[in-house]
Amino acid sequence: MKFFIDTANLAEIREAHDLGVLDGVTTNPSLMAKEGITGEANIKAHYKAICGIVEDKVSAEVIATDYEGMIREGKELAKLDDKIVVKIPMIRDGVKAIRYFHSEGIRTNCTLIFSSGQALLAAKAGASYVSPFIGRLDDIAFDGLDLIGQIVHIYQNYGYETEVLAASVRHTMHLIKCAELGADVVTCPLKVITGLLNHPLTDSGLAQFLADHAKAASK
Ligand code: E4P
Repeated sequence: MKFFIDTANLAEIREAHDLGVLDGVTTNPSLMAKEGITGEANIKAHYKAICGIVEDKVSAEVIATDYEGMIREGKELAKLDDKIVVKIPMIRDGVKAIRYFHSEGIRTNCTLIFSSGQALLAAKAGASYVSPFIGRLDDIAFDGLDLIGQIVHIYQNYGYETEVLAASVRHTMHLIKCAELGADVVTCPLKVITGLLNHPLTDSGLAQFLADHAKAASK
């Protein structure tokens, strides 16, 4: 399973990359705004900086919601770097834009997926990735992980090449369950990745090993 980090913060992207387990990055307009990145030139420069850190794909989201606008913005984003994946919302014109980009050999990530029907539509249109939002479904008392399982199952039934990129991942159990369910990629905040490190038995076991070593060495 691939690990993507869901942030536009360069320090966090570097930290995850330095850990040696990061594949790619996803961003969205809210995450870019959180870093104070505004204006076309700054946004493009920021995406280039992100692409300079990671080895795998970087999702960059269009702002336009009409077909022509999404095509124009998506082409501009795709030109920035080979790693860029154009992130397109699951709306009618978005599906059409995904089909267009597929025919042009430009990778897309269909975002804001909340049902298996939407995921099926995105795969039919030729999306490279779909992003089902687990946490936001959990927030409204629907089981986000169920959706991951359904989409993985449907894609396996028909051999779709679209990758399931589990998004809105809020904690380590989300990530582990996504791995069990067969999601291709998980995108999450840095703390979810580093949270995988923790186990109290690891800490107490290491403390014991070091104490025993020190005792033996002092004899
Ligand atoms: C996906 O690509 C989105 O950027 C993201 O995972 C949304 O997560 P949130 O629901 O925690 O904002």
